[in-house]
Amino acid sequence: EWWATEKSKGTAEATAVSQAAEVLRSGEIPVGFPTETVYGLGADATRSAAVQGIYKAKKRPSDNPLIIHVDSLDMLNRVLNPTQTNELAGHATTNSNSKNKIPAIYEPLISRFWPGPLTILLPNPAGSPLAKEVTAGLTTFGVRMPSSAFARLLIHVADRPLAAPSANASTKPSPTTAQHVYEDLKGRIDLILDGGSCGVGVESTVVDGLSDPPAILRPGGIGIEEIKSCPGWEKVKIGYHDSALKSKDAPRAPGMKYRHYSPKAQVVLFEAGSDISSATLRVKADLQAANSTDGAHKTGIVRTRTWPVALGITSDNQSTVSIREISMTPDGDITGISNGADSLAASILDLNLGSSADAIARGLFSALRALDGLNVDVIYVEGIHDEEGDLAAAIMNRLRKASEVAIIV
Ligand code: TXA
Ligand code: MG
Repeated sequence: EWWATEKSKGTAEATAVSQAAEVLRSGEIPVGFPTETVYGLGADATRSAAVQGIYKAKKRPSDNPLIIHVDSLDMLNRVLNPTQTNELAGHATTNSNSKNKIPAIYEPLISRFWPGPLTILLPNPAGSPLAKEVTAGLTTFGVRMPSSAFARLLIHVADRPLAAPSANASTKPSPTTAQHVYEDLKGRIDLILDGGSCGVGVESTVVDGLSDPPAILRPGGIGIEEIKSCPGWEKVKIGYHDSALKSKDAPRAPGMKYRHYSPKAQVVLFEAGSDISSATLRVKADLQAANSTDGAHKTGIVRTRTWPVALGITSDNQSTVSIREISMTPDGDITGISNGADSLAASILDLNLGSSADAIARGLFSALRALDGLNVDVIYVEGIHDEEGDLAAAIMNRLRKASEVAIIV
């Protein structure tokens, strides 16, 4: 019966979660787990050896602080108020005695966006239970309460705040499926909880309410306009450095300095409003070069709003160029690739992310990874206007970091 299936599925998930929680509580190898933004690589944030395991698995430099994930405000209050044993009864002090409170500036954000893709910075308390590797020597720590029920259940059962960066190998695009995590970290971790594709697709927004005016340090799942509409956040400063990349002296190479979220292929980003024909010319030049050197060349195209299929380029008469379309669901899952000869001198692999910012965010990292899996040499990406607010700024922030060349017209 269906209920028997549902029931055994439920049991399998419960077993997986309790197994993962046990590894988190006592092991030193991090666990891959789903959140609503991207997959995280989690470790008990209170144990140094466990947190060091994250840096080892990701091969990430350890001067970069990690955020912690809590299942409840109660857990966060326990971090802010390290347990002092009551000398009479040996009982932990209760939260009603809390001295360290979450600063009031965060209250409207927390009540509106938690649980959800928003990370806040808090002062790390004296006697903090957090391993020093979490904060990388800073006096503050970043924390969020994920809206993924799977993630919160795991944290709850482990009964520990989890330090978790995105579960990709350092410099690769963030993972939005369990399969992505496996591809990057197989052999380096033992356990990945598979909760399907992530609903948001880009990381959380990081805000700093401890500075005056408050600042957005990383655009992400919660939009800037939404944050600005909260009391105390009207004058929020955009603390990330995208604006520096928008000068007119294009093309430029932001990826050199910030290489991040990058597939193996070279990424060429066309800012929104660039002339479609300049993108088409670039791709045609690639194809011609491939023909003349006789080497198979693969060009990936990631379209969003205005570019036509394969930038209007069609298979040519001499059958030296093939056009293949990669299909993707609105959830950002790759479902297939159309037939076409791969043996030709050049092929275009075309992928349409759709036009809504939600769909673009969900599919972006998956698209970059899929094209990498097909061994494309270069990926041309159609950007969107980041002034739209919401996710658009987060999407463009990631794309500018992934790209080696950005065409700004
Ligand atoms: O959506 C997300 O936030 C994902 C999922 C797994 O929850 N996690 C994530 O973590 O992206 P991570 O470690 O890759 O990114 C955390 C960001 C980094 O940009 C880091 O520099 C910043 O937050 N950060 C963490 N602690 C900080 C602190 N004390 N001060 C300033 N920035 C901090
Ligand atoms: Mg990351």
